[in-house]
Amino acid sequence: MKAVDILIKNANEIVTLNGPNRPRKMKEMNELSIIENGSVAIDNGAIVDVGKNLTYNSDKIINAKGKIVLPGFVDPHTHVVFAGSREFELDMKLKGLSYMDILKSGGGIFYTVEKTRNATKDQLIQQAKNRLDKMLRYGTTTCEAKSGYGLDTKTELKILEVNKKLNESHPIDILSTFLGAHAIPKGKSADEYTNEIIEEMIPKISHLSKFCDVFCEEGIFTVDQSKKILEAGKTHGLIPKIHADEIVDTGGASLAADIGAISADHLLMSSDDGLRKMAEKGVIGVLLPGTPFSLMQELYAPARKIIDMGVAVALATDLNPNCWVENMQFMIQLGCLKMKMTPSEAITAATFNAACAIDLSDRIGSVEVGKQADILVLDCPNHKHIPYHFGVNLVEKIIKNGVVL
Ligand code: NIG
Ligand code: FE
Repeated sequence: MKAVDILIKNANEIVTLNGPNRPRKMKEMNELSIIENGSVAIDNGAIVDVGKNLTYNSDKIINAKGKIVLPGFVDPHTHVVFAGSREFELDMKLKGLSYMDILKSGGGIFYTVEKTRNATKDQLIQQAKNRLDKMLRYGTTTCEAKSGYGLDTKTELKILEVNKKLNESHPIDILSTFLGAHAIPKGKSADEYTNEIIEEMIPKISHLSKFCDVFCEEGIFTVDQSKKILEAGKTHGLIPKIHADEIVDTGGASLAADIGAISADHLLMSSDDGLRKMAEKGVIGVLLPGTPFSLMQELYAPARKIIDMGVAVALATDLNPNCWVENMQFMIQLGCLKMKMTPSEAITAATFNAACAIDLSDRIGSVEVGKQADILVLDCPNHKHIPYHFGVNLVEKIIKNGVVL
């Protein structure tokens, strides 16, 4: 018998997500390719075999009887590096102030920018590491992380350097996004700051980022300004992403399609026309149900309609000081209970499609031979328990890169 580093066996379900390497849409989002009473063999950091009744020797045998095995969660939209906190905004929200009311009065993002500018790199690393540790315990093995609490070249660089350090030192793999266009700093016009982003910031930060993002929203960046910024990013090799149509439909979804963005995120107010264009161009819709939850909103992104129109959907936490959540299991719960996704759709959205949204589906997002061994054992009898059994951490074991943590 061949020996392997780790053998997981007897799992009630191996949720493999085996299938084509492209974003799963419509009916495909319901196909988890589950193997019942299955095993996974892991060697040298990679998945080497998946199936029933595998016979391997191993010094590390994990008996997953009564449990399920899943690819590690991928969180494709976070603002994990920031300083301070904004718990005091909850009282303002309870009094009826909206997200934009708080932002326009100089709070919100601006409050966090002030704190982040004043924090040292070590302080930012310490605070973000604490969040990443929690993310990992809740099963996130890869995440995206945005800058955007600097709004000046120096601090944006500082945040992206912190991302790099964290990626090197923390078990979670972290992919960086430049989001200098997160708000317009005080004392500058939107056009002035747009030019600064294009002419000064992007050339100086592009080596530290894979993606470029813009908060395209009424009162923040217009479609026109967003387009210029994302085009400039593209010429420096940055893949476009967009915070689109969260509060008002300004045409963010259409812009995402026109510019060839890998994803458009939020999408609460997007027009049918914009969504149709996203479906045609294969732009992934990243839905962030933690945000309306934290804002006490009735309205969530219309996931049912978005999926039925043919957009491949992913889920993410949006972890930020307005929506402080490290837990992708909770996103699956909100996906089902608030946005009417099926359990299988929500699991696809939190794993394989989330990997597609950060351009990593060739390496992670499914339990398939040849992929990086980022694998979870969850203490529940079948995958439908993930959205059903909420308010607890179902993750029992985390294997990252072939190492049991
Ligand atoms: O995705 N909408 C813009 N950015 C974040 C919120 C950032 C903040 O409020 O600090 C978001 O929700
Ligand atoms: Fe965000």
